[in-house]
Amino acid sequence: MSNQSMWSKNISFVDGQLHLSNIGATELAKEFGTPTFFLDEEAFRARATAWSLALAAEFGTQAGGVFYAAKSFISTAVAHWIADIGIGIDVCTGGELAVAIAGGISPKKIELHGNNKSVAEIDKAVSVGVKTIVMDSLYEIDRVAAAARKYGTRQAVFIRLTPGIQAHTHESISTAHEDVKFGFSIASGAAWEAVEKIAQLPELELKGVHCHIGSQIFGTESFEIAADRLLQFMGRYRDSYKRELPELDLGGGYGIAYMPNEVTVEPADVIPTLGRAVREAAAKYSLEVPSISIEPGRNIVGPTMFTLYEVGTVKDVTIEDGSVRKYISVDGGMSENARTALYDAEYFACIASRNSSAPLVQSRIVGKHCETGDIIIRDIKFPADVAPGDLIATPATGAYGRSMASNYNHVPRPPVVAVIAGKARVIVRRETEDDLLALDIAKM
Ligand code: LLP
Repeated sequence: MSNQSMWSKNISFVDGQLHLSNIGATELAKEFGTPTFFLDEEAFRARATAWSLALAAEFGTQAGGVFYAAKSFISTAVAHWIADIGIGIDVCTGGELAVAIAGGISPKKIELHGNNKSVAEIDKAVSVGVKTIVMDSLYEIDRVAAAARKYGTRQAVFIRLTPGIQAHTHESISTAHEDVKFGFSIASGAAWEAVEKIAQLPELELKGVHCHIGSQIFGTESFEIAADRLLQFMGRYRDSYKRELPELDLGGGYGIAYMPNEVTVEPADVIPTLGRAVREAAAKYSLEVPSISIEPGRNIVGPTMFTLYEVGTVKDVTIEDGSVRKYISVDGGMSENARTALYDAEYFACIASRNSSAPLVQSRIVGKHCETGDIIIRDIKFPADVAPGDLIATPATGAYGRSMASNYNHVPRPPVVAVIAGKARVIVRRETEDDLLALDIAKM
């Protein structure tokens, strides 16, 4: 049950009961209710630190840094940890920027992304002095220049490049083939147009290039090709402008284990290969090795959280082929795990409150929402004696779980509880019906 790649480091099973940092699931459910996201704080800190150390070991003075992708999960407490660990953060909206700042992250450690940043978001980012704004359209180049003029500063920018790579992951989370809304295509000449436009604007300082090829990627090949294409582009820049771009950001995307047969990518699996690819490409295009940054999100936070649910009903349904499928309904669903419905994502689950030696039967774990697609796990073999009141845990829900949660069916979003050294504390509280009603303007 406790495949360490799926369950975070401080999870253990004692007599069939899941424990996080020695607190049992039954106790956690009693104190915080269900559904709840439980976050292994020590694991989060360790994962973030490991990426940062690996980058520093590989690139030395040319290690630009880790910029944690806030979209995977952010709260002010997590922003404090990021500031404490000393890494940077990638934000892509005004909301994420606000949380980063509220959590005490220095603007000098913030990178702003987004394919359609509003003028207000750009204004805020320039006014607080973020480290870099990553350019994603020609319109935006003018908007950032205007903001820099307004505040009398020179804004450092990157250009987001589309290197034309088909990363092997779900279509909705693959981002560097040509037919996407992100970035400037290298092949079509759009990227060069962006370079020339930025060069004419004294308010902007082009510091480097960026790409993000997709998410939940295993293996290093796509990253190596991306590094080569981006350095080739940097070589072209040097030939034309007689100066080298000092920075290269290779984005995030490192995969994690959701299922028992998968293995989470660790920094040692990719960073040395990335180092080799960057050095080789730099030599090939006669460039100095630029300062290298990365933006892992899922890989840092994903493995550090699990969701705890309580079973409400169980129903045996005879399906088309005559077999029986057990429908196990829990007290959450597609509002706090949209990934199964959106991407056909696969998750694992187990009973977290007790042992069971019952036979495993064909089952489906579903939520409480009013639609058939409200599925958390489409197919799973589950103990036949699962019953109302049992607690069920789903590992690896830290990334894009709470951050993509909705209020569908007016279900309040679950809290996030951080656990460290045997102590649990709420870092995002549970939404209430009053929170939901607070948005409504009652018109008589
Ligand atoms: N940098 C940029 C510019 C990105 O767009 C992303 C993710 C990341 C970094 C972080 O990628 P990660 O290391 O987390 O793979 N909602 C989808 C994932 C969308 C990812 C969007 N961009 C999911 O639940 O799978």
